This record gives sequence, structure tokens and C-alpha cells, in this order.
Amino acid sequence: MTAQLIDGNALSKQLRAQVAERAAALRARGVIPGLAVILVGENPASQVYVRNKVKACEDSGLYSVLEKHPADLSEAALLARVEALNNDPAIHGILVQLPLPAHIDAQKVIEAIAPAKDVDGFHVASAGALMTGSSGFWPCTPNGCMKMLESIHYDLRGKHAVVIGRSNIVGKPMALMLLQKNATVTLCHSATHNLKAMTLQADVIVAAVGKRNVLTADMVKPGAVVIDVGMNRNDEGKLCGDVDFDGVKEVAGYITPVPGGVGPMTITMLLVNTLEAAERC
Ligand code: GUN
Repeated sequence: MTAQLIDGNALSKQLRAQVAERAAALRARGVIPGLAVILVGENPASQVYVRNKVKACEDSGLYSVLEKHPADLSEAALLARVEALNNDPAIHGILVQLPLPAHIDAQKVIEAIAPAKDVDGFHVASAGALMTGSSGFWPCTPNGCMKMLESIHYDLRGKHAVVIGRSNIVGKPMALMLLQKNATVTLCHSATHNLKAMTLQADVIVAAVGKRNVLTADMVKPGAVVIDVGMNRNDEGKLCGDVDFDGVKEVAGYITPVPGGVGPMTITMLLVNTLEAAERC
């Protein structure tokens, strides 16, 4: 292995210790940072994610409530719950776990969250703030990737960053964050011709597609930084990312593992956003 690992667990531990310290300082002022997590239905992956988010809050001294609703909850009832949480002074951050059941318009629900409590950073006001460089919450996963780059003191100025995947949650905000740090950014997606020709030019590659082996060793310039946002299962049912880790680690300069890479950083940035929402009160 030539690449150095960027250890998301170790970095998360450091950042969560800082969150716990800042949460304790807020508590001393009588403010307990509070996160409300809403889960609708019984998606097994979502159940694991929300459990991990609530546990991370407890571990860092944040207050959290988990609201579980049946899959047939009406859109109007969900909007009413969001509105109640918008007006609840004990709650500083609201997270509605996605995906929502098909009868609910997810975007409508996200837009109902008060931007000041939008710790997921999914509201159009948050997206607009990121795009224009004004203050607002940044989506947790790409923000966690930026923290990983910061942790290796990587200077993005003038570097070529290639993002694979154009989702609103990861790919698009990732491209904007890299751009804000003065990288030259290429955003690739399913209609991109010759992905390999793009990635071979990259100093930094962020793979956020949700498909195994999107990035293989022959697609990576020696020494490049490779960040793997994917969360997939291989044929043996083992967790794996979008990157062929075993091959790419022989070519890249830095690489994030799955598990133990971007995953823990996503939750860490949720804690940071919730804390900041409380600090702004
Ligand atoms: N579903 C998968 N990832 C996320 C996330 O980061 N936030 C929310 N709300 N739902 C998700």
C-alpha cells in the first residue's frame, strides 16, 4: 500500500471532543443544544442511521429526540410536526430522515424546516447560502469530506478536483465547497463521456455515486487524494464504497476507507451544525 489512510474515526473523535467541550460551555450558560430527528416508516437502513445520530448526540452532551412515525403518516401531519419543532425553543436542529414514503413530497417537507434549524443543509436557503458564500448550514457529508482534506493540510488552490455524482446531498454541494477553496472543479455524472479521461487529470477525486468499483486503479493519477463517499455491500455482504480500495490504494497518495472514512464524519458534522445552531441562539 502506498496511499496514506485518512482515518474518519480518528478525526471524528477529535472533532467530537471539541463539540462536547463547546456543548458543555453552552450548558453552563443554560443552553442545551437540541436535535430533533424524524423518522417516517421502517426503512432498515434509515433506522440504523437515526439510531447512530441520536447516540452520537448523547455521547457529545447534546439533547436529542427521535420521533418515529408510521409509514402512512400524512404529509399534512408531518408538516404540522415540523412546524411544532420550528417553534420549540428546546430544539435547535431538525432532521427529517430521507427517503420519505412516496406519498410525501420530501422537498416540501424540507422547505418547511426553518432555515435556522436546517442542520442537514438541504433547504433552498441553505443551498443558496452555500452557492453565494453567505452564512448558512452546509450539508454534512461534503462538509465532512472538506474536513478530511483539511486534516491532511491539503491546499486546494489551483488543484483539479473531480467529483463523481451530482446529487443535491453530496455531489453538487461538494463541487461548490471545493470551488470555494479555489480548486478547479469538474462535476461528472452518469452522462459523462469517458470518466477515466477526467479522473486521470484529477489531483483530488470524490466518488459519490452509490455503486461499487466506480473508480479503479487505472483511473487514478499517482499520488491523487481519493475520497470515497459510497456505502454499498459487496457480494459477501460486506460494507464497501464506490472505490476499488485494494487497487486504488496502490496508486493514490491518500485514500479514505469504507467503513471508517466519510461515514463517521457525516454524523460529526451534524453535531457541529446542531451546536452552531444553538450557539447562534
Ligand atoms: N438519508 C441519507 N443520508 C441522509 C442525511 O444526511 N440526512 C437525511 N435527512 N437523510 C438522509
